[in-house]
Amino acid sequence: MTNKNTPIDYSIVNKKIKETGLPAIGNATIREIVRLVNNIEKETGEKFIRMEMGVPGINPPEVGMKGEIEALNNGVASKYPMIEGVPALKKEVSRFIKLFLNIEVDEMGCLPTVGSMMGSMAAFLVANRSDHNKKGTLFIDPGFPVQKQQCKVLGHQYESFDVYNYRGDKLKDKLESYLKKGTVSSILYSNPNNPSWICFSEKELQTIGELATKYDAIVIEDLAYFGMDFRTDYSQPGTAPYQPTVARYTENYIFLISSSKAFSYAGQRVGTMAISNYLFNRKYPDLKRYYSSDGFGYSMIYGALYALSAGVSHSAQYGLAAMLKAANDGEFNFVDSVKLYGKRAATMKKIFIENGFKIVYDKDEEKPLADGFYFTISYQGLSGAQLLEELLYYGISAITLDITGSERTEGLRACVSQVNESQFADLEYRVKRFNEDHS
Ligand SMILES: Cc1ncc(COP(=O)(O)O)c(C=O)c1O
Repeated sequence: MTNKNTPIDYSIVNKKIKETGLPAIGNATIREIVRLVNNIEKETGEKFIRMEMGVPGINPPEVGMKGEIEALNNGVASKYPMIEGVPALKKEVSRFIKLFLNIEVDEMGCLPTVGSMMGSMAAFLVANRSDHNKKGTLFIDPGFPVQKQQCKVLGHQYESFDVYNYRGDKLKDKLESYLKKGTVSSILYSNPNNPSWICFSEKELQTIGELATKYDAIVIEDLAYFGMDFRTDYSQPGTAPYQPTVARYTENYIFLISSSKAFSYAGQRVGTMAISNYLFNRKYPDLKRYYSSDGFGYSMIYGALYALSAGVSHSAQYGLAAMLKAANDGEFNFVDSVKLYGKRAATMKKIFIENGFKIVYDKDEEKPLADGFYFTISYQGLSGAQLLEELLYYGISAITLDITGSERTEGLRACVSQVNESQFADLEYRVKRFNEDHS
């Protein structure tokens, strides 16, 4: 970096980066960037455009909090919740899946988890142990780095590929090249995708589903951003169009439905996992190596979920149940409540593009990408790691795509959730200065 006259005091940023002790700030994890930027903000008194972490920037819905308070007043805090979930939540999850995905999953297979994070952990614990010939998870990347960390700590093998060059018709051969080895227990992707915000087409989901059936792999469909492809209105219960899902093409699926983003409920750490009826009832003799039963659903509840946390916070389950009920009854449009992320993304992308940046993942096959919770950027001549570091001097923080399994090493992920509209003028000024100094 040659220019030392930067919007944020050059010497302080430089000093704080050095103080992290990290060999390359571009490879830092999300939480490391958060800490660094907190430190720079504190010392300079300047507010950053914070795009590194996907924290919801919206208040939690009143209906959820009311549900929790009511449950607490009824004394649930002293009681252990059932591991498989309180009946009120199981009922509303099953209804939600019917009304917003148009898929039938019995209440039995609708299970609360401590956030989707626990959902993926539990899914790996059972899916990846169901067949001794299989080895672990195939991640369709880019993706959420912590899920690979979960596989690592469990000692499960995993493979991954960046889907950037394998959209549409090209997906089949690529996916099959992994599956035909016969070692893939589970396939995981998020849709809409964190970090790229690509959304799979029906054709792509069909490919994934049909190949999962053919090679008997279990799809873990991470719907952390349920309904948030704002190009299509998925917000009306019981009315098409429905959120796209692999469940239309295979019976081998587990949904992970987080409440963190779509319901702005990240703090309560409550989400749900829903196991297809077929998979829930299926027997896998190899599960007996780890669990007392060969039943998939039984092993999930009384093996994995019991071992992990013996249930989910009682009141949080009631909070989520209340929000889902309101959504199912058409009284709470959860999609509308988060639409402002899409509007923010549209403005922010425009500011970056007008100042020399490019959107890295820019298309769903032929369709322009949706504006949503995340977008990806690059700047000519700089690697993602360099770009991340240089942008810090301009008061802008993000993470590299590198750490998400993306092969687009030039790119950064930008999250819009913490950027307030009142900061757009600052963003424009800083990005403009960056471009002037680098072009
Ligand atoms: C794709 C994806 N999956 C899962 C999660 C975790 O969700 P939760 O907060 O429900 O654990 C996130 C959060 O950022 C995510 O982006």
